[in-house]
Amino acid sequence: MQVPFFDIGRLNAELESELLAAAARTLGSGWYILGTEVQTFEQAMAESLGTSVMVAACNSGTDALVLALLAAGIGPGHEVITVANTAIPTVAAICATGATPVFVDVDPDTWLLDATRITAALTPATKAVIAVHLYGAMADCAAIQTVLCAAGRPDVALIEDVAQAQGAELGGRRAGTLGRFGAFSFYPSKNIGALGDGGAVCAGDRHDGAVLKELRNYGQRDRYHASTPRGINSRLDEIQAALLLTKLPHLAEWNRRKAALMETYRRSLAHLPLTFQAVTDGCRPAWHLCVVACSDTATRDALQQHLQAAGVQTIIHYPIPCHLQPAFGRARSTGLPVTESLAGRILSLPFSPVLTESEQAYVIQQVAGYFSRSSSHCAL
Ligand SMILES: Cc1ncc(COP(=O)(O)O)c(C=O)c1O
Repeated sequence: MQVPFFDIGRLNAELESELLAAAARTLGSGWYILGTEVQTFEQAMAESLGTSVMVAACNSGTDALVLALLAAGIGPGHEVITVANTAIPTVAAICATGATPVFVDVDPDTWLLDATRITAALTPATKAVIAVHLYGAMADCAAIQTVLCAAGRPDVALIEDVAQAQGAELGGRRAGTLGRFGAFSFYPSKNIGALGDGGAVCAGDRHDGAVLKELRNYGQRDRYHASTPRGINSRLDEIQAALLLTKLPHLAEWNRRKAALMETYRRSLAHLPLTFQAVTDGCRPAWHLCVVACSDTATRDALQQHLQAAGVQTIIHYPIPCHLQPAFGRARSTGLPVTESLAGRILSLPFSPVLTESEQAYVIQQVAGYFSRSSSHCAL
């Protein structure tokens, strides 16, 4: 059997006629940038976040982070604290503003930003913390805010990177609404994906929301009136907004399907020497990836090869932590032993709303088969 990591085409095929109708509606409208589809999508997304926020749709999750950082006034000479076990774009966004990334280690159980590491990383130049809700589980935003206040730095902006966790909740509040800004990605494989690039950034403060909308549209407040020199062109296309409007009502169902798959993986693999990500107290994740950690790199690599030979596609998210990327040499970091250890041991198993029961059963059988084979080798 061949099990793809995520057959995105299979998911989109479920909605083919609705997606085609949305595309045709946009084609017929004759209006392709910042029109009614984007406006309606921004409103629908704000409503889905369950609290009063303004949403600015933009052209990627990377730009959503850039816009949040620009709106917080961040630029050259400033520092932004984040984690190194994230996707490259989290850090690329910081660098794009001219600010310096400062990496702190992650918690060994949740694999997410360890709030207790923030105090030692703070300097007068610190302007923001980006909490990455990695793999669909939420970093402890309340703990981060408590640490910032205790250090006398409530001015430091908390930005949530929600690219992998749309629909997750912490203490009953939706991911993206706990910090000053929440940045979302609609990369095709994300919790809801466009048919191309897309992103959005939300803010609870109306002034912040208005600034985000200016920044994404050349820095214009009104047509032909620039209100900031830091504006960029980062608008979600009307056609992508129309497609995402079709998909948004399905987000909860897709997240439910993935929660059930995650439950099955965890239950079925619990007897094996594999570790799963622990969930922050009070968090209901919106799982984006199913990541397991092996005991060491040799086991992870051998398991991956075994699965590949059996037709099961796996990926490593992410093999090289950002502080070890030569391109980010300007970044500052303290020791990151947990981050480095995890990068050598993690493996992402096939996972998506369209993974079938029989595909998942085959993956589980192959993973268990690897360990029973390797333990019988040891016994010889
Ligand atoms: C954690 C994280 N942050 C940011 C991004 C950037 O999103 P995009 O690819 O839409 O620019 C991604 C997606 O790749 C991501 O996984």
